[in-house]
Amino acid sequence: MMAVTKPARYILFILCFLIALHFLLSATHAPYGKATSLSGFWAGKDRPTKYSDSAVPAYSDFSSSIGGASNATRANATFVMLARNSDINGAVQSIRSIEDRFNRDHGYPYVFLNEEPWTDEFKKRISALSYAPMEFGVIPHDWWFQPDWIDETRAAAGRKKMEEQGIIYAGSVSYRNMCRFNSGFFFRHELLRKYRWYWRIEPDVMFHCTLSFDPFVYMEKQNKTYAFTIALYEWAATIPTLWDTVKDFMKQNPDTVAPDNAMGFLSENGGDGYNMCHFWSNFEIADLDFWRGPVYMKFFDFLDRTGGFYYERWGDGAMAAALFLPKSKVHFFNEIGYEHPPNIHCPSDDEVWRKGMCSCDQKRTHDYGPYSCQRQWDRIFQ
Ligand SMILES: *[C@@H]1O[C@H](CO)[C@@H](O)[C@H](O)[C@H]1NC(C)=O
Ligand SMILES: *[C@@H]1O[C@H](CO)[C@@H](O)[C@H](O)[C@H]1NC(C)=O
Ligand SMILES: *[C@@H]1O[C@H](CO)[C@@H](O)[C@H](O)[C@H]1NC(C)=O
Repeated sequence: MMAVTKPARYILFILCFLIALHFLLSATHAPYGKATSLSGFWAGKDRPTKYSDSAVPAYSDFSSSIGGASNATRANATFVMLARNSDINGAVQSIRSIEDRFNRDHGYPYVFLNEEPWTDEFKKRISALSYAPMEFGVIPHDWWFQPDWIDETRAAAGRKKMEEQGIIYAGSVSYRNMCRFNSGFFFRHELLRKYRWYWRIEPDVMFHCTLSFDPFVYMEKQNKTYAFTIALYEWAATIPTLWDTVKDFMKQNPDTVAPDNAMGFLSENGGDGYNMCHFWSNFEIADLDFWRGPVYMKFFDFLDRTGGFYYERWGDGAMAAALFLPKSKVHFFNEIGYEHPPNIHCPSDDEVWRKGMCSCDQKRTHDYGPYSCQRQWDRIFQ
C-alpha cells in the first residue's frame, strides 16, 4: 500500500470535509441543493443565448433538468400571455411575479402571442427572467383582425353608441379583436397545440401568494376543466343581445348543455334572464381540449356568425364553462392571490393567507364586494 504523504493526507481531509458539508447542505437546505446540483448546473450551462420563433421548445431536455421540475407529476401545461411589444414592462413584472410565487420551482414553459412580430428587445428582456422554455408566436391575420363580412357601418354605429354611454374601450376595435381572439382562437394556435393545460397571464398582474401546490396537477387530479379567482358583473350595455343568442344556441343544441351545470351562477330564474355574472377571464387555468372540443367550437361559431363581437362587445367564451360543463368541473382557486388593478383576489381566510405568505391586503379582496359574483357562485353548491 502506498504511503500517503502528510500534505496529501491534509488535502484528502479537506476534500472529505467539503464533500460531507455539501451533502449536509444539500439535504437540509433545498435552495442550496438546487443551485449546485448537477441538473441545475447543466440547466445553467445549456442555457440558450438565443430564443426562437419556432415551435420547438428552447431546450427539449429541459423537463428533466430544472430543480423541482424533474417530477413525474408535472402536467402537460404552459403559461400563455397575449401582449404587444409596448407591454414589455408590464409583461416583465407579471413573469417575475409568477416565477417568484410558483414557477421557479416548476419550470413550466411560456407561450407569448402578439398580432405582430416580436421585437428583439421584448424577447431579450423576457427570456432573461426564467430558465423555462419560452416561445414567441405571431397570431395569423384572420384570427385577429375584423373579418370582411362584418358590416363596418353597423360596427362603427355600435361603437359610437357605446362611447356615448361612457363605456371603457367602447370605441376600440383592437379591444374587440382581442376579445374575439381570446374567445375563439388562442387555443388553436400552433404553439399551444402540444399542450393540454394553460394558465393565462396578462401584463401588469401580480401574484400575491406563494403556492405550495401545483394548480395544473390539481386540475388534472381533481378532474377540473376551468378555474377562476374573480367573478364579477358584466356591463350590460356591452352585450345587449348575447344572452338571447346563447339561449337560441341551447334551444337548437340541447344535447350540449350539461345536466348539472352552473346556470344558477348566471341566472336568477333558471336561465330565462342573465344576471351579468361571469368569470373574469384575464385569469384562467383551463383545459385547452375543452375549447378545442366540438361543443365549444360549435358554440363559438354560432356566436361569431352573429357579428356580436363587433356590433356589440362580446368577449366571454368563459360563459361556456358554466353551461356545457357540470359545475363540479369548474373551480375557484382561493389560494391564488391575484391582482389585475383595480381588481384583486386575496385569500380572506387567515390560515390560507399566512401559509401562502401573501403580500396582499385582505381588506381589499374583491370576493364579496359590491361588484362581485362570488355569492352567486357559492349558492350553487349549497
Ligand atoms: C414531486 O412532487 C411531489 C408532490 O408535490 C413532491 O412531494 C416531491 O418532492 C416532488 N419531487 C421533486 C423531485 O421535486
Ligand atoms: C399534451 O396534450 C396535448 C393536447 O391534449 C396532446 O396532444 C399531447 O399529446 C400531450 N402531450 C403529452 C406529452 O402527453
Ligand atoms: C376523476 O375521474 C376519474 C375517471 O372518471 C375517476 O376515476 C376519479 O375518481 C376522479 N377523481 C376525482 C377526484 O373525482
